[in-house]
Formats: sequence, structure tokens, C-alpha cells
Amino acid sequence: MTGRTSLTIVLAAGEGTRMRSSTPKVLHQVASQSLLGHVLAAAPHGAGSALAVVVGPDRQDVADEARRVRPDAATFIQHERLGTAHAVLAAKDAIAKGADDLLIAFGDTPLISAETFERLRAPLKAGAALTVLGFRAADPTGYGRLLVEGDQLVAIREHADATAAERAVDLCNAGVMAFAGKTALAIIEQIGTSNSKGEYYLTDAVEIVRSMGLRASVIETGEDEVRGINTKAQLAEAEAIMQARLRKAALDAGVTIVAPETVHLAADTTFGNDVTIEQYVVIGPGVSIADGAVIHAFSHIVQAAIGKKASIGPYARIRPGTSVGEGARIGNFVEAKAAILEAGVKVNHLTYVGDTHIGAGANIGAGTITCNYDGFNKHKTIIGAGAFVGSNSSLVAPVKIGTGAYIGSGSVITRDVPDDALAVERNEVSTKEGWGKRFRDKNAANKKPK
Ligand code: UD1
Ligand code: MG
Repeated sequence: MTGRTSLTIVLAAGEGTRMRSSTPKVLHQVASQSLLGHVLAAAPHGAGSALAVVVGPDRQDVADEARRVRPDAATFIQHERLGTAHAVLAAKDAIAKGADDLLIAFGDTPLISAETFERLRAPLKAGAALTVLGFRAADPTGYGRLLVEGDQLVAIREHADATAAERAVDLCNAGVMAFAGKTALAIIEQIGTSNSKGEYYLTDAVEIVRSMGLRASVIETGEDEVRGINTKAQLAEAEAIMQARLRKAALDAGVTIVAPETVHLAADTTFGNDVTIEQYVVIGPGVSIADGAVIHAFSHIVQAAIGKKASIGPYARIRPGTSVGEGARIGNFVEAKAAILEAGVKVNHLTYVGDTHIGAGANIGAGTITCNYDGFNKHKTIIGAGAFVGSNSSLVAPVKIGTGAYIGSGSVITRDVPDDALAVERNEVSTKEGWGKRFRDKNAANKKPK
């Protein structure tokens, strides 16, 4: 909203015990991004938009994630978990800076959108002291109920404290609120603990606003946007909603997705024009797919850049740090890790390329393995442009195959091969008694009658 500054406080100090996990609740992921990350991504950005995240004690991991997603985020620790209003006051120093709008959101509602934050701010501009995000719950049990008179919000009643008549109300508190900055602190500091749980309820702000002769109102949204995550089942539901959203956005942007319900995307996946994705493709975080690329069925891609008109799969595994050049082809049962494939490279069948740079137009035959790990360290394989690596070759890294070099099938390459050279298989024959005899002896022993 032009001209108005904001502070968004995201509450993330909850314990999340119902997740039954050693990972803090807000660090669980939906579409390969943490719940907290989704909320922070939707919160107002840019000049005049400050951000504060309230974390529990000893939750450096949550603070680190906040700063990873939004380096501008300030973090505050809530030392004791005494309720949502108490959590907000952990960020009192940030509130005291006096932004025009104070927004409060929960770190466990990952489906919230940037537009909703903006809608919530609109009534503040028109003079309201508080706006609360509401939704019609299919099952309101457990939520705070929004009690309205005309267009005014008069109270929020927590489920535990509600009368039977109040429990019949299906308009519920989503947990996202917007306060006019100039009165916010005076309101929140008046909140006490006279409720059945003895906690400082942020929801009590509504009645305080009214007692001060100020106005509070409700902005409604759909239930799907404000689902809070408390259990693994709810996490899976949110994943399904987010996947449906991401697929629709991709389809709307012109991506051909043959069987959308079988394709899994990440919140940060980017597509060029005329991309095609076949059935049962899983795309993890950090993937970009450029114009005209085709991802064939049953491929799995994480932290990789797929170039223009490249072809991946079917059944390919593209791991972090891989970059596939224009028109390059990665075929079935190929695994690539930290592999740079320049334009037109072909790695068509049954191959592992790891910690590898492959020059333009090189052809890597079926069954080629870059032996990048010697049991202690990882080493690089460099393959020059236009090189030909015959089937079933092992390239023992560190090793360099020259430009235009030709590797005969079945070779084990342990030394660098110069440009345009031919290297053929290593066929070492030993006449000494060894494995052959041991194997025969073993078989003979097994054949002895019992
Ligand atoms: C809250 C609302 C309820 C609303 C519901 C929506 C209050 C009093 N109640 O209830 O009206 O319908 O959310 O999901 O606000 N948190 C802290 N520190 C605390 C307490 C909570 O950081 O001391 C954080 C939690 O991590 C969570 C959020 O605040 O992100 C909400 O807390 P939670 O305990 O889930 O509140 P609800 O009982 O669900
Ligand atoms: Mg909750």
C-alpha cells in the first residue's frame, strides 16, 4: 500500500507438539519451503516494510530460517509461552518504532497470500484501529469466534470460553490481524489473563479497541487460505492445496502438464515458455526449466537448471548443482549430480555423471560411470567438447578427457587423455593364482554333499 509503512510480526514460538517431531513445527515444509518461509514470503516486502519473527528459546534454527528467507527480518525470543499477546510483546522494541500498520500473522499458516495482507490493511487507512481476518469454518471447533454487530467486530471469543450460542457462530478468527500503528501498543499492553487458560490472548484486543471508542472490523477469506498446521495430516492437506495452486499457476502460464495431479512442484520452480512435463514428475527446490524443455515421465529434479529445449528422462534423477545446456539430453536411468552439461551433450542411458563438466556436443555412452569418490574425497571429471565416451567406461576422477578424445567401450580411464587421442580399455591379465581359484574352490566346497 503506497505511502504507509508496516511492521509484520510473525509468531513462531509455539512448540508444535502435535507434529510428533524433533523438527520445530514452522520448519516443516510445504512444496519444499518451510511453513515459516511461506508466511514470510507473503508478508509485505520492500522499503517501509519491516519484519519481526518471534521464536522460542533455543530456537536458533528457526531464527536462521527466518533470516535466510528474509534477510531483513529481526528476530525476538519469547522466553515463556504465555499466549499470543505475550508473544507479540516480545517484539515490543520493533513495535515502538511506530510503523503506520502493525500486522500479526502465525508462522504455521503457510497458505496465506500477499493480497490478503493488503486487503487487511485497507480499513486501517479508512480509520479503523483493528482489522481481523475471518473465515467460515466447516468445523469451527477450537477456533476463536468472531462476534459482529452490523459491520463492526465487537469481540473474539476463544472456543474454550464461548457460550453454546457463541459456539454456533461459524465465522472464525484466522489469527491474522492488522492494527493501526499509533494505538497498537496501548491496546496490546492492556491485555490481561482473565480467561479459562490464564493466557494473554491477542484476541482480547477487540474488546479493548471497543472500550477505547475505536473501531474494529472483519475481512473474510476462504478457509483454505488460513488453515493452521498442527498435525502431520494437516501438513499433508496443506501440501495438496499448495500443489493444486502451483500446478494451476504453471498451467495458466502456459506449461503443458500432461497429468497435473501426478506432478509435484516446489514453491520456487520457474518455467520458460512451451515447457512440457509428463506424468509422475517430482520437482524439488531450486529448479528452473527453460523454454521448450521436456521433462519425461518419472523424473526427479532438485536444485538444477534445465536449459532450453533440453530433454530429461524418462526415469532420470537430476541432483543439486546440475546444469543441463541447450538441447542437451539426459535419458533413462541416468543420475547427474553437480554436473555441468554444455549445449547438445548426450547422456542417454544408464549412466552416473557426478562432479563433472562435459563440453558441448560430447556423447556419453550407456553405462558410463564417473568414479568421483575414492572413499575419502570427491574428485572432478572434465570431459572436453565433442568427446566420445564408449559404453560401460569408468572415468576414475580426478581425470580429464580431452576435447574430441575417443574412449573405447569398457575402458577404465585413470589418467588424463589428451585432445583428440584414443584411449582403449585396460585389459590386465594375471596368471597368478588368485580370485579365479578362490571362486572355483568356493563353488566346489558348496557342491560337497551334506
Ligand atoms: C489462535 C487464536 C484463535 C484462532 C486460531 C486460528 C488466540 C488467543 N487464539 O488459537 O482465535 O481462531 O489461533 O488458528 O490468539 N504462539 C506463540 N507464543 C505463545 C502462544 C502462541 O508464539 O505464547 C504462536 C504459535 O506458535 C502459533 C500462534 O501463536 O503460531 C497461535 O498459537 P496457537 O496456540 O496455535 O493458538 P490457537 O489456540 O490455535
Ligand atoms: Mg493454532
